[in-house]
Amino acid sequence: MTHVLETDRLGKRFAGVPALSGVDFRLGAGEIHALVGHNGAGKSTLVKILTGVHAAGSYEGSFRIGGATATFSSPAAARAEGVAYVPQEIQVVEQLSVAENVYVGQTGLDTAPLVSFRELRRRAGELLDRLEIPIDPRSPVAALSATQRQLVMIARALATEPHVLILDEPTASLAGTETERLFAVLDRLRDAGTTMVFITHRIPEVMRMCDRATVLRDGRKVAEIEREQFSERAIVAAMVGREVDHLYPTRSGAHGEQEVLRLEHVSVPHPTRPRDVLRDVSFSARRGEIIGIAGVVGAGRTELLSALYGSLPHGGTISVEGRALKLRNPAAARRAGIAMLTEDRKGTGLLFNFALRENITAGNLSGLSRGGWVDRRGEQRAAAGFMQSLRIKAPSPGADVAHLSGGNQQKILLARVLMNAPRIMLLDEPTKGVDVETRQEIYRLILDLADRGVTLLVVSSEIAELVGLCDRCLVLADGAIVDEFRRGEGSEARVIEATTTATGAAA
Ligand SMILES: Nc1ncnc2c1ncn2[C@@H]1O[C@H](COP(=O)(O)OP(=O)(O)O)[C@@H](O)[C@H]1O
Ligand SMILES: [Mg+2]
Repeated sequence: MTHVLETDRLGKRFAGVPALSGVDFRLGAGEIHALVGHNGAGKSTLVKILTGVHAAGSYEGSFRIGGATATFSSPAAARAEGVAYVPQEIQVVEQLSVAENVYVGQTGLDTAPLVSFRELRRRAGELLDRLEIPIDPRSPVAALSATQRQLVMIARALATEPHVLILDEPTASLAGTETERLFAVLDRLRDAGTTMVFITHRIPEVMRMCDRATVLRDGRKVAEIEREQFSERAIVAAMVGREVDHLYPTRSGAHGEQEVLRLEHVSVPHPTRPRDVLRDVSFSARRGEIIGIAGVVGAGRTELLSALYGSLPHGGTISVEGRALKLRNPAAARRAGIAMLTEDRKGTGLLFNFALRENITAGNLSGLSRGGWVDRRGEQRAAAGFMQSLRIKAPSPGADVAHLSGGNQQKILLARVLMNAPRIMLLDEPTKGVDVETRQEIYRLILDLADRGVTLLVVSSEIAELVGLCDRCLVLADGAIVDEFRRGEGSEARVIEATTTATGAAA
C-alpha cells in the first residue's frame, strides 16, 4: 500500500510533560483510518501536528506527505498542501450564513477587494450539492442543528479540495441517526478517493466505517489493526493495555424484592402541541434494581427522568416506597431520596474555575456546616474520600475541574449526587463522551450502588450497554413503553426492532 502520509518518531511535550512519544503513523491512500485511544491518549495532539496547529519546530520527529518532508507553520500551510482538519470543537460563526461559514478565512476569497455574496452562495451551494448535504447555503448558522453545523465544518474543510481529511471526534455530540447521516457523507467522500483520519472512541463506529485502526495509549502507538482483525475485544484490549474479560461486569448478587418506585399512568404533555411526549407509562422498580431505558432520541427518555426528578409537570401517579408523591420540583424529588445525574455536564453540572472539592460538595453543604460556617476540613475530607473511592484522577482536591478529562468530570458529578445518599438514582447517558477505561469504572460503580440497595434508572443511547448492564430494560418509542425484557433475554436487535417498528406504526 502506498502511504500518503507517514510520520517518523513524532513526539510533543507540553511544559516538559510528554503528550506524544515516538509515534510512527502510516496513512494509506484512499482509506478511512481510525485513530482511537481514551481521553488524553494523544490523538488530538498527533493530528494537530499533522495539520499545522502545532507548528513545525514545536515537536520532535518529522512527517512526510507524498514522500516529501512537511514543515507546516500554520493550518493554512497544511491546507495548501492538501491536508484539511475538522477540529473536535464545533467552530462556526453563528451570525453568518452557511455559505459564509463554509468560506470563512479562505485565502483568495477574503483577500479579494470585494466578495460577491452571490458567488459565495453559488460555490457553497455547489459544494453542498456535490456532498448531498441538504442545507440551504443562505440559512443562518444559528438555525442549524449540531449535525448540520458539523456538516458545515466538513464542507469548509472540503472547500479546499484536500487529499487528506482529518476529523477529530466528529460524532461525539451527535445522536445515532445524525451519526448515520454524517457517515453517508463520509462514504461518498471515500468513494471519491478522499483519504481520511477518523478519531472516535466509539468502537462500533470504527467497525462500521474504517479500513484500519491505529491505537494510542499514553502518547504512544500501541497497535495498528487491519480491518480483518477488527473486533471490539481487540481494540478495547489495546486501548486499556490488558485483556478485558467482560465488557460489562457481571452482577454478583440479585436485586431485592421490596418495591421502591412505582409509576402509574404517568404522562408528560408536549410544551406546545396537543400530543403527549410521554404517554401512560406504568412500571415499578425494586430495591437495588438496575433498569435500563432504551429508545431513540425524542422517544421520551429524558422526559421520563425529568418527570421523576420533578423538573417537568406530569400526570399520573409516582410513588416511592408506597407513598404517592407530589414531585413539583427537584427539591421535592431530592427529599424523597431521588437523585439525578444529567446528560449535559457543561450546561447544568460542573462549576468550571472551581476546585474539585467545591464541585463535589456544591449543594450539599448543609451536612458540612457548623453554626453557619462551612467546615472546610470536613469538605476536604469528603472530597478526598470520593476521589479515592471513585478513583478520580486529579492532582489534588483543590484542582480546577476545567482541566480534568470528561470521565473524571463525570465522576465528580456522581460524587456530588452520592453525597446525598439517594435511594433512587436517575442517570442520563452516564457514559456519553467518556473513554473506555472510565466507562468500565462507571459500570462497576453502578453495580456497586445497586448492590448497596440503590435503585437505578439508566438512560443510554448505547443499546449494548443497557443490555449488558441492566437487570431489566424498558424500550420507549414515541412516548410509550413498547417492549420490556429481563437480563439475558434482550439483545441489540430486539431493541432496534421494537423501536423501529413502533416508530413506523406511529408515523
Ligand atoms: N495545549 C495543551 N497544553 C497542555 N497540555 C496539553 C495541551 N494539549 C494536550 N495536552 C495534554 O496532552 C495529553 C494528550 O492530549 P490530547 O492529544 O488532547 O488527547 P486526546 O485527543 O487523545 O484525548 C493530555 O495529557 C493533555 O492534557
Ligand atoms: Mg482529543
